[in-house]
Amino acid sequence: MTRHFLVDTDLTPDEQASVLDLAASLKADRFSRRPLAGPQTVGVVFDKTSTRTRVSFATGVSDLGGSPLIINPGESQLGHKESIADSARVFSRMLAAVVWRTYEQAGLEEMAEHSTVPVVNGLSDDYHPCQILADLLTLREHFGDLAGRTLAYVGDAANNMANSYLLGCATAGMHVRVAGPEGYLPREDVVAAARERAGATGGSVLVTTDAREALAGADAVVTDTWVSMGQESEKAERTEIFAAYSVTAEAMALAAQDAVFLHCLPAYRGLEVAAEVIDGPASLVWDEAENRLHAQKALLTFLLDSSGLSADLPAALRREETR
Ligand code: CP
Repeated sequence: MTRHFLVDTDLTPDEQASVLDLAASLKADRFSRRPLAGPQTVGVVFDKTSTRTRVSFATGVSDLGGSPLIINPGESQLGHKESIADSARVFSRMLAAVVWRTYEQAGLEEMAEHSTVPVVNGLSDDYHPCQILADLLTLREHFGDLAGRTLAYVGDAANNMANSYLLGCATAGMHVRVAGPEGYLPREDVVAAARERAGATGGSVLVTTDAREALAGADAVVTDTWVSMGQESEKAERTEIFAAYSVTAEAMALAAQDAVFLHCLPAYRGLEVAAEVIDGPASLVWDEAENRLHAQKALLTFLLDSSGLSADLPAALRREETR
């Protein structure tokens, strides 16, 4: 069976912990796994712009013994001149895996349905699960554990980062709180899925319009841009709507004394976060950015291993059929 990673809950709690363990091990010993030896090619396809996702996947695929093929917005037929299903069939004949940054989650699901190689969500309008793996790795490095820790996300609580924090942190057994203004809160189905996960891991979920309630005593404070890709024309309106949710020094003071700050980047100083917070001693954002590399290498290795497609697995564990 081919394993994909389209949403945070595609990994069980045990699998997520294994991926984070492997990420730590690959960070300590960068070239210790070569599942893409050949080199095999991984397609990294962008319908939206990127710095971290592009650089970390390109570097990570090379580190794993493979060769990245970056396809920038507008460079392929995917989704406009050729159906997603047909593109997936073609990709499966040549690539070892596909990473896709796109708009609709349904597109990723369609790609995975027709792909015999792993498909990874490099960000969609609904989720950004690779980012959450990097964030969890960063928090684990800092605190030594995740279960029982409290993460507070404040800002646009209806966006892909809020959704993925809900699902990914609940999977890790964390207490996850998201705060945003009325009308900018997560979908009920996402909250229900996070609550179900949290029920199995000992975590918990809080959704509120009160930033102070979310921040009180939190171990980690996170936010994201108020203007996600595709919302640029709404910038002035959104800046006003989210102003009360800015992560300022005063907001950080409500969290635990040793609280840390995370941001997936790019960040807008003076809007969702104050410069003194993101550039201050509580900020782990540069470790967080680097950890995209280690977390995604571990993820790709896990998906290839569990799909029987890793080049460095013993022959008995490899899938027999040809792609
Ligand atoms: N955090 C993140 O996904 O960064 P990019 O948009 O630069 O890839």
